[in-house]
Amino acid sequence: MNVQHYLNIKRVARRTQNHMWFRVPNQIFFNMNAVENLTQFPSTTTIIVTNPALEQIGHVDIVRRHMCPKTHVHVCIIPDAEPEVKVIDQGVEALNFYQADQIIALGGGSMIDAAKIMKLKYESPEADLQELAAPFLDLRKRVIEYPKGKAQRARLVAIPTTSGTGSEVTPFAVLTDKERGRKVTLADYSLTPDVAIVDPQFVMSMPKGLTADTGIDCLTHALEAGVSNYASAYTDANAMQAIRLVFKYLPTAFASPHDEEARCMMHNAACIAAMAFSNASVGVNHALAHAFGARFHIAHGKANALMLPHVMAYNAAVPTKFMPSPYTKGYVAHKKYATVADLLGLGGQTVPEKVEKLIAATEQLLDQLGFPRSIAEMGIPRDEFEGAIPEMVKAAFDDPSWRSNPRMPLMQELVELFWKAYEGRGTARLAAVQPQAV
Ligand SMILES: NC(=O)c1ccc[n+]([C@@H]2O[C@H](COP(=O)([O-])OP(=O)(O)OC[C@H]3O[C@@H](n4cnc5c(N)ncnc54)[C@H](O)[C@@H]3O)[C@@H](O)[C@H]2O)c1
Ligand SMILES: [Fe+2]
Repeated sequence: MNVQHYLNIKRVARRTQNHMWFRVPNQIFFNMNAVENLTQFPSTTTIIVTNPALEQIGHVDIVRRHMCPKTHVHVCIIPDAEPEVKVIDQGVEALNFYQADQIIALGGGSMIDAAKIMKLKYESPEADLQELAAPFLDLRKRVIEYPKGKAQRARLVAIPTTSGTGSEVTPFAVLTDKERGRKVTLADYSLTPDVAIVDPQFVMSMPKGLTADTGIDCLTHALEAGVSNYASAYTDANAMQAIRLVFKYLPTAFASPHDEEARCMMHNAACIAAMAFSNASVGVNHALAHAFGARFHIAHGKANALMLPHVMAYNAAVPTKFMPSPYTKGYVAHKKYATVADLLGLGGQTVPEKVEKLIAATEQLLDQLGFPRSIAEMGIPRDEFEGAIPEMVKAAFDDPSWRSNPRMPLMQELVELFWKAYEGRGTARLAAVQPQAV
């Protein structure tokens, strides 16, 4: 026994950096007529999954024209709505019937997500969607494993016809659970399409409302990925470029739908933003929008738009609770917003000033695109909204989207954010950033 035995020596493990990665499909074709590249992909039987509107517009015919002549092509038309399990089953039946070796998803995020889940169920019939949708904290450390041994394989080619979700490059698929009035997100890199064809000819037909909704969805992806706890220099590069492209080209794509350059740049922006959030994920804005959109049947982009300025102000303010993260050393969300403001040349001297200018510019963009300023303005009665709040807050809290948000939301804060969106914007800026201690 000596003095050494009386010393209380604590050993603390040295923190090492977690390994990160950046994964996207290895084949992304973009710019006008990129669909011509379809001939590179041999297939005996291809199923084109699309919806009625896109067949009527003639988009299916364009795709057919660029298929290898020997390929048997069948078109599977699914309803014009966000995907639900019943619809997925119909698609899987068609894939099994024709023994398809290639699936072409032609449509907006709903269609591409539906095709991702069809492919999953076709290749691995035993996959249990409820189980696979189990919540998680870190996409890279899942308890639930997605099936690996595939019964049959099919190549998934995604051709987006909206410029927003970027689902053509993401590992996510959003399913609507109509019975419970909520959205379920499946997330695994195995869901990522094999090939993405980002051809702006398919978005020239988008009506104004869809252009605005999907464009703001894209902006929300980039802003959320930008301040995410999983952000890295790789995702920042994509997020910042996408934000710049949206502010520059979305007003033109909206005002002049036939402007090819603006359409092309917005289509690229959606895909570039999606590369960022495929690896940095999204945040509280998406959790709120999923809950609100599913409960009141509001388009995904519009639901995001109603929350966006409030969530930016929320993330830029001093957090009540930090999100534990091995990837970040301190709270940087407000500084990241300030960097975005600099990138857009919005001016301002201090970080709070720059954040305020970014929120103001976002609100101005939303006004320019004709978005309602509040949920109240959309005609949703106050008592109905109030009645839905507990259920929406629970759904938002269970949503994996916010797990990468820099600020960990308390349930009470989710309630407050819903009410802010109900009351309307214009107030978001005033509530924004107090000077940060960090
Ligand atoms: N997988 C992901 O990574 C991801 C990311 C964000 C959102 N989402 C999901 O994507 C869905 C929203 O997708 P979306 O915003 O692309 O809309 P959408 O796919 O739901 O399409 C909306 C409507 O637009 C029509 N449409 C599509 N393209 C058109 C065109 N070129 N011309 C005219 N009409 C056209 C469709 O027929 C449909 O009626 C939601 O379910 C959302 O939750 C998925
Ligand atoms: Fe989205």
